[in-house]
Amino acid sequence: MCSNEKHRLVNLVLPRGIHISENGIPSAYNNYYEKRASEMRGFYQDENALEEIISKENVVVYRVYEFKNSENSNDLVYGVSIVAPLKIGKEYNMTKGHFHETVDTSEIYFCLNGDGYMVMETETGVTECIRMIKGTLVYVAPYFAHRTVNTGNQEFINLFCYPAHAGHDYRTIEKNGFRKIIYEEKGEPIIKDTKRTGL
Ligand code: PA5
Ligand code: NI
Repeated sequence: MCSNEKHRLVNLVLPRGIHISENGIPSAYNNYYEKRASEMRGFYQDENALEEIISKENVVVYRVYEFKNSENSNDLVYGVSIVAPLKIGKEYNMTKGHFHETVDTSEIYFCLNGDGYMVMETETGVTECIRMIKGTLVYVAPYFAHRTVNTGNQEFINLFCYPAHAGHDYRTIEKNGFRKIIYEEKGEPIIKDTKRTGL
């Protein structure tokens, strides 16, 4: 069988072009989720500061718009994540962060707006924090857990794309946290070591 005839045997997904507006919202997506402050318990250093935010207004801390068509290793998932400009105590707002379930899969992030960091680490403790501004591309290499952190005063908007069979392992980060956090000191973001829990 000629390889370009294979599509006759599978459900054909059509190519697609979408437009991502200035505010980061794609013109089309088939999955959306958001995390509110109350869903982030245990992720930030200052638990009291988080509880104060939750009791005042349980704000949305980040949103994700994505296209997921399958979990085939030949397919891609792509979308946009938007992290709100917010500090929890002295710590900058961020996504939960995860390893990929298929841990040797990689990911591309491309910053569309804002100012922040991609914080990455391997299970064995190799860490990388890369500053991202509009136009920065980050290659998240295989085996690196990753999270985005907004250190600016605008929404931190990133395009992401990863293999559709990657999957998400949130458990490891939920249990152990990351070894590095991004903290405000004298009005500037600094990279700080954490006391890792759960080890
Ligand atoms: O797979 C990715 O890295 C992204 O799609 C993220 O899922 C997204 O940025 C939200 O972060 P998290 O999955 O850590 O909540
Ligand atoms: Ni990922």
